[in-house]
Amino acid sequence: MSTRKARIGLVGLGVMGANLSLNIADNGFDIAVYNRSTDKVDDFVADAGALVDRVIGCKSPEELAASLQSPRAIILMVKAGEAVDKTIETLLPHLDEGDMIIDAGNADFNDTRRREADLSAKGFAFIGMGVSGGEEGARHGPSIMVGGPEGHYAVIQDVIEAIAADYQGTPCAAHLGPDGAGHFVKTVHNGIEYADMQLIAEVYGCLRDRMTPSEIGQVFADWNDGPLNGYLVEITAKVLGATDTGTDQPMVDVIVDAAGQKGTGRWTVIEALKLGQSPSTIEAAVAARSWSAQRDARAHAQDLFGAATMDTPPSLADLHDALLAARILAYGQGMTLLNAASDEFDWDLDLARVAEIWRAGCIIRSTLLDDIAAAFRGETPHGQLAFAPAFVTRLQDTVPALRRVVGAGTAAGVAMPALANALAWFDTMRHARGTANVIQAQRDFFGAHGFERLDRDGTGFHGDWPA
Ligand SMILES: NC(=O)c1ccc[n+]([C@@H]2O[C@H](COP(=O)([O-])OP(=O)(O)OC[C@H]3O[C@@H](n4cnc5c(N)ncnc54)[C@H](OP(=O)(O)O)[C@@H]3O)[C@@H](O)[C@H]2O)c1
Repeated sequence: MSTRKARIGLVGLGVMGANLSLNIADNGFDIAVYNRSTDKVDDFVADAGALVDRVIGCKSPEELAASLQSPRAIILMVKAGEAVDKTIETLLPHLDEGDMIIDAGNADFNDTRRREADLSAKGFAFIGMGVSGGEEGARHGPSIMVGGPEGHYAVIQDVIEAIAADYQGTPCAAHLGPDGAGHFVKTVHNGIEYADMQLIAEVYGCLRDRMTPSEIGQVFADWNDGPLNGYLVEITAKVLGATDTGTDQPMVDVIVDAAGQKGTGRWTVIEALKLGQSPSTIEAAVAARSWSAQRDARAHAQDLFGAATMDTPPSLADLHDALLAARILAYGQGMTLLNAASDEFDWDLDLARVAEIWRAGCIIRSTLLDDIAAAFRGETPHGQLAFAPAFVTRLQDTVPALRRVVGAGTAAGVAMPALANALAWFDTMRHARGTANVIQAQRDFFGAHGFERLDRDGTGFHGDWPA
């Protein structure tokens, strides 16, 4: 057993854990690592190269605990769910009061709240830390969303800020609130990621009947130099330009059109509904992924009803503006959801700060986030990004194109669920008088639920309905 004591520990040397460990070592901190399958510990140490002197490989939780400075701080980067609880169970017998466990996986924030309460009752500190940026981010600088007691975070803040992405000298890491705040923000980040990916895929769908994948890739590459600049547009240009070496076909043309989902998009929608929210672009993106998985049913439906193409496809300028409008609306819906959760759980989330730490390192990083941060530092009536003065102008400029694109798709029979649902939210919000008066009348008719009146104060009025 090593007599050296590392500043920080990490359990879970999968893709993310291994890269995050190297990032920590690279930033000058000694790190002790452990993995359930211990062969991964040997492999990690063997591959650590010049960083090997900063790494202590441990073959048991006991050895890990013995290799850490006090109070101990141990990052978990294991599969979300039961694996986290099991890992905590194996560690606790070897820890002392005041030691800290930091769950850096994609946890359900409800689990984070439970674990935080449970561990704090036992005298341990627990931090729920969302990490975005994939493998590359973990190695060279992710965006890090921290939740838990602020005093506990202070113990590891220097390490976390050192390994995080840097945006013009500011680390993309922040303590956002207590208990599950960090994991909730990460979940909503992923929900926005789902929406943005789906919006981009729908725009590709409008172009693929008239352009080759590499031509469409060039369109996205050009757009990446303007207001649509961001990681997802950038990588879309790259994936559309790639060729499958085996078949010499465009890579995207040999990929099955069924997208997977690990759960964070679905969690965003579930938690939104629990909070009385409906982020329509994120909901549409989650729905579109489930529909994409139903390939046999779609093939059957095509035989029954026929597929459609757009005879008069939207212009590139319209597609650009439609994507920009829908992206603004999608980010706005995510922010509104964060606001609702912050109120419900007393997190006091600083939405401008959230936007700031998403500006580098994470998957949804984009130029727009700078403007979003500025908007939330200023005036956002009703907490709505879309109502902030700078975004009112941008939406006035771009929504007409979104309407033309959705109109063309709908008229032709080409589905664009995320674009259409962004527009549906916008059009619903811009009508002060909606149509729920009829729903209230129906509810009162069949269930005597009662309604409020425009012309009188009070509740519980009933209609004079015919029998
Ligand atoms: N991949 C990404 O781009 C990404 C981005 C952000 C966040 N995340 C999150 O980061 C976490 C790790 O993801 P990953 O992609 O690095 O996963 P991964 O490569 O599949 O590695 C999973 C790790 O979890 C461990 N594990 C699984 N079940 C366990 C159990 N029952 N008890 C103890 N350890 C267990 C594995 O240990 P063994 O080697 O013993 O199986 C391995 O170290 C997840 O929560 C994921 O959602 C991933």
